Amino acid sequence: MTHREKASNSSVAFLRFIGSPKADPFYWEKVRYISSKTPAHEGSMSLIYKAFDSREGKPVAIKILQPFIDDEEHKQLIKKEAEVINSIRHPSVPFVYDVLSVESPDGPTTAMIMEYIEEKTLEQRLKSGPPLSPREAIDVVRQTGAFIDFLDLSSGHTLFNGDLKPSHIFLTYPNIRIIDFASSTLANEKGEEYDPNFSAPERRFRFGQEIVRNAASEEFSLAAIAYYIITGHTIDINDRKKTTFKKLSKWNVRYDFSEYEINKLNQVFTKALAFDPKERFPSSSQFADEFSIVMQSAKTKKTLLNLKTVFNF
Ligand SMILES: Nc1ncnc2c1ncn2[C@@H]1O[C@H](COP(=O)(O)OP(=O)(O)O)[C@@H](O)[C@H]1O
Ligand SMILES: [Mg+2]
Repeated sequence: MTHREKASNSSVAFLRFIGSPKADPFYWEKVRYISSKTPAHEGSMSLIYKAFDSREGKPVAIKILQPFIDDEEHKQLIKKEAEVINSIRHPSVPFVYDVLSVESPDGPTTAMIMEYIEEKTLEQRLKSGPPLSPREAIDVVRQTGAFIDFLDLSSGHTLFNGDLKPSHIFLTYPNIRIIDFASSTLANEKGEEYDPNFSAPERRFRFGQEIVRNAASEEFSLAAIAYYIITGHTIDINDRKKTTFKKLSKWNVRYDFSEYEINKLNQVFTKALAFDPKERFPSSSQFADEFSIVMQSAKTKKTLLNLKTVFNF
């Protein structure tokens, strides 16, 4: 029996996917993680199950590869992602408890067991909730900016998430949580996967060289996220020569801004979303500061649409 088969056999007792969890403590003693067969979420490469950890008495998230990419390379990627997350000492990353070989509904595979985050992601909130208050918008953008700079500096300019976007940011309090390090520089050498709506042009297009993931490309993603918070729209980065984004006007924003503030925001976004990385702000925190100065005096628009989402009529 190979080492991997052994790991896979021994782990079968750890995790059970069942129709519905049984309220039988004796059964739970034997099986550590109990999950329903239906995943709670789906990512580009994985399925996320919400399971119950019977030993610790709390819910956990179990990240398992989608069956169509369940190969050795991706199993290693999950392991590396877990190592990267555990190497970061910061309140904005969730705990990873374990990486196990498990028997999933689709056969044996590798699973990452992590803290289950109950709160909404920024994506869920922007799609289904009222717009963020200016204070919330400032908080998310500032925290994400500080996190990017923290990773950059604490890793000696080697660790970048590489896939920052609203579905990877949880609105937890007081610290937001940032997930998915499977595209990060230290877990994934190639970094070929990206979200076209939130990636810098130099991250998307090779321009004859390596795919770029650095402080400037992360700042671009943060600015694209901030733009999405303000307008509900993503920017258009299909052009290989310039970034185009619809300039803000009082008609396409979710906040009441003065003409001066709209102009200022357009300047800030033009700089942070510059096609040439050298034209951007020197750091993500500096972009976040400039963004915050304008947002401080903003008020959420009281449109019928917003009232509708608040009061549900
Ligand atoms: N620890 C967690 N707790 C709760 N939900 C999670 C957790 N991790 C991921 N999710 C949900 O699952 C989705 C996909 O997870 P992600 O790690 O991005 O997978 P992938 O690497 O396949 O893109 C996330 O957008 C989020 O909604
Ligand atoms: Mg993801």
